[in-house]
Amino acid sequence: MIRFSLNGETVEVDAAPTTTLLDWLRDQRRLTGTKEGCNEGDCGACTVMVSDPDTFDELGPKALNACILFLPQLHGKAVRTVEGVAKPDGTPHPVQQAMVDHHGSQCGFCTPGFIMSMVVSHLHERTDHDDALAGNLCRCTGYAPIVRAAKAAEGVDWPPEWLDDMSNCPDVAPLGFAPETSDELAAWYEANPDATLIAGATDVGLWVTKQMRDLPKVAFLNRCRDMQRFDLSKPGWVRVGSGVTMQGFHPFAQEIHDSYGELVRRYGSEQVRAAATIGGNIANGSPIGDNPPPLIAIGAVLHLRRGDQRRDLPLEEFFLEYGKQDLAPGEFVEAVSMPRSVPDLRVYKLSKRFDQDISAVCGAFNVTVEDGAITAARIAFGGMAGIPKRASHVEDALVGKPWTENTVDAALSRFGVDYAPLTDMRASADYRLSAAQNMLVRYFHGRSGAAVDVRGVLA
Ligand SMILES: Cc1cc2nc3c(=O)[nH]c(=O)nc-3n(C[C@H](O)[C@H](O)[C@H](O)COP(=O)(O)OP(=O)(O)OC[C@H]3O[C@@H](n4cnc5c(N)ncnc54)[C@H](O)[C@@H]3O)c2cc1C
Ligand code: FES
Ligand code: FES
Repeated sequence: MIRFSLNGETVEVDAAPTTTLLDWLRDQRRLTGTKEGCNEGDCGACTVMVSDPDTFDELGPKALNACILFLPQLHGKAVRTVEGVAKPDGTPHPVQQAMVDHHGSQCGFCTPGFIMSMVVSHLHERTDHDDALAGNLCRCTGYAPIVRAAKAAEGVDWPPEWLDDMSNCPDVAPLGFAPETSDELAAWYEANPDATLIAGATDVGLWVTKQMRDLPKVAFLNRCRDMQRFDLSKPGWVRVGSGVTMQGFHPFAQEIHDSYGELVRRYGSEQVRAAATIGGNIANGSPIGDNPPPLIAIGAVLHLRRGDQRRDLPLEEFFLEYGKQDLAPGEFVEAVSMPRSVPDLRVYKLSKRFDQDISAVCGAFNVTVEDGAITAARIAFGGMAGIPKRASHVEDALVGKPWTENTVDAALSRFGVDYAPLTDMRASADYRLSAAQNMLVRYFHGRSGAAVDVRGVLA
């Protein structure tokens, strides 16, 4: 039986493991304030607040998309929907009142989702409203009144005991399909290699809601707390558990290099970053996943596990061909290790929309220059091949040469040897190739201290 708190009351649910919270709220509980817009994590109309006192990231209540959140992911946690935000006497929450005062709603379809993102943001006393609301789309009001409302609610008191869901989370017994430790997961998955692992469900959720796939055997990883930790015991390195979310990883990415921090800030939206895990972003083998290019460029090492057997693999060797990773049946990603600071790294993400969009091209550069000469180069791209892939011919054309514009110009033609990108809805092959070449030029000038960010140049 799945057990969690809903708007302050403990509920017990016996449902198929791939039932989404959104469907259950609307169909079974008639809590129809939580809306279905896209049903794929893109619009934020279904945003709810989820509290979980046991997470290691200690980030407190999160805004999550209910449309790609399966009920077992809520076991032992607390959910609050828009129906549970005002006081019982009807007094609206400060963000609700501010939305009224600042005319933040027209048709109202997006409004409950915005309210829930704003409630979570208000709880954390955040003022970066553009970031906090980037995952909520509004088609009629326009964002200015909504952001004005969020600003107006800043600092307006709301009794902390109301909405204090951290103390509402019920005690629970283990679920059969949600192992509590990586040891339990390892034993179970070795015996059930045909199962689908579900971490943050920001990919798997769409298999169910968009592809209508049946997933007869699943295991949920979010209760394996030991896979959500950072291990700093090796000097200069951090070992990141595969269950760490993008939100939890963000400060570490920032420490590796500002540009990696910025990449993670632009990853999906607040709601997606609060769910998506680093393990899922690697294990899915996507050619356009954002983390593999920088991680390959900084020489990250993947830790794989099957039963009691463990092996380590340079990340770049994990991706074999489109849809195929070096992962045996019953084997899973336990963690990934990376250096803590890489000053020469730069990561550039090109996407059609600046926020909340998947990369058309993502390039990561890590070139070592000593006494004016290039002594090492690690360059990796997403969106340029069927897998995240190093630009080994470009690297060869650089290493041993002086770090000059001529060397960079001479290396540009090698991109065509390394990559034969596709044309798809995100970009044409020609655009991708030119963009990748331009990124190397940008890296060269950026390393010399020139302003290479469009916003920096305009400022
Ligand atoms: C709206 C939206 C925006 C997005 N934006 C971005 C973006 O900007 N950049 C980007 O890179 N991606 C983006 N994504 C894609 C998605 O967030 C990532 O691929 C994500 O990292 C998947 O992680 P997850 O934990 O949600 O994985 P899940 O969906 O739970 O799993 C994904 C795959 O990995 C497997 N898996 C998960 N964990 C493990 C493990 N430990 N060992 C072995 N296999 C495992 C699962 O079985 C499944 O095959 C977006 C998705 C959505 C819905
Ligand atoms: S319905 Fe659009 S994000 Fe959930
Ligand atoms: S008020 Fe209509 S979509 Fe936002």
